[in-house]
Amino acid sequence: MTDTDALRDQILAEIAAAASPEALESVRVAAMGKSGSVTALLKTLGGMDPEARSEAGPRFNGLREAVTAALAARKIDLETAALNARLIAERQDMSLPAAVAAAGTIHPISQVMDELAEIFADLGFAVASGPEIETDWHNFTALNIPESHPARAMHDTFYIAQSPPEGKLVLRTHTSPVQVRTMMSQAPPIRIIAPGRVYRSDSDATHTPMFHQIEGLVIDRGITLAHLKWTLETFVKAFFEVDDVTLRLRPSYFPFTEPSVEVDVGCSWAGGKLSIGGSDSWMEILGSGMVHPRVIAACGLDPAEWQGFAFGTGVDRLAMLKYGMTDLRAFFDADLRWLKHYGFSAFDVPTLSAGVGA
Ligand code: PHE
Repeated sequence: MTDTDALRDQILAEIAAAASPEALESVRVAAMGKSGSVTALLKTLGGMDPEARSEAGPRFNGLREAVTAALAARKIDLETAALNARLIAERQDMSLPAAVAAAGTIHPISQVMDELAEIFADLGFAVASGPEIETDWHNFTALNIPESHPARAMHDTFYIAQSPPEGKLVLRTHTSPVQVRTMMSQAPPIRIIAPGRVYRSDSDATHTPMFHQIEGLVIDRGITLAHLKWTLETFVKAFFEVDDVTLRLRPSYFPFTEPSVEVDVGCSWAGGKLSIGGSDSWMEILGSGMVHPRVIAACGLDPAEWQGFAFGTGVDRLAMLKYGMTDLRAFFDADLRWLKHYGFSAFDVPTLSAGVGA
């Protein structure tokens, strides 16, 4: 047995005994590092005469290769062992119920928007959206509210001071501009809802400068007020989860619908508590109507061919009616106690089969 063989056996034994990546690394450095034993041996080749070198060269290189291969193989063994140990330690019983309390809660407004999307998806409505910084044209003009129209004053609009010269910009005062954007960007038949934030310069217990609306729009051939009424009834029943729902349609006025109807839902205040159903009392819940032919024309469609209905309602208000909050401002206070009390579990995804009402 040569010295080389002895050195190889010794190093291979050390490699086999290395129990961690760190231990293996010190064996590597001691053998193959700058001043390692194998490196030192290889360095002696330079000083040998040719005959001795041709004998020692292959032997030393054989040693180096054997050590390199053993190091690599041991490294893989140690890594595999570490991974296996981790996999065993991390094993989870997937049959356990998910009983972990989620750290946060779903805000009632998000919850109600999900509920509405679920209800309308079932009726074949897609979800559309539009910008919150909107052009004056989309927010008003295209909706049959020309400049100087008194309805502009009704909206307490926030105007953007640095508007580009080609058109004034506003914070959208309602979700109705999404009607315009949808009609201009997709061919009928159209069935969409558009939930989102809207802004008006108004603030008290029942008004906040930012609040949420949801818009609905249907454009097709031969659409009538009866389709609107059926759709709203179906929606209100599913949302409040009461079959005995009475709707009252009152003539109203919106520049972008003709005829326009405001919709009240029958409710009762028996025992001082609001419940939806019956017709003891009425609660206004939304504005709606048949889309005005001028709006359809402004969007580039022929009103003789296409008709439709639209509705808009306040998401915050719907949430208050359904879940019994009394002060609108609490929605935006980020008070943890309120959020814990009124928030929803992240596991509580609204579905029509399991009930949208959580
Ligand atoms: N945009 C109206 C509002 O903000 C609501 C509405 C939408 C009315 C669609 C009719 C049709 O009050």
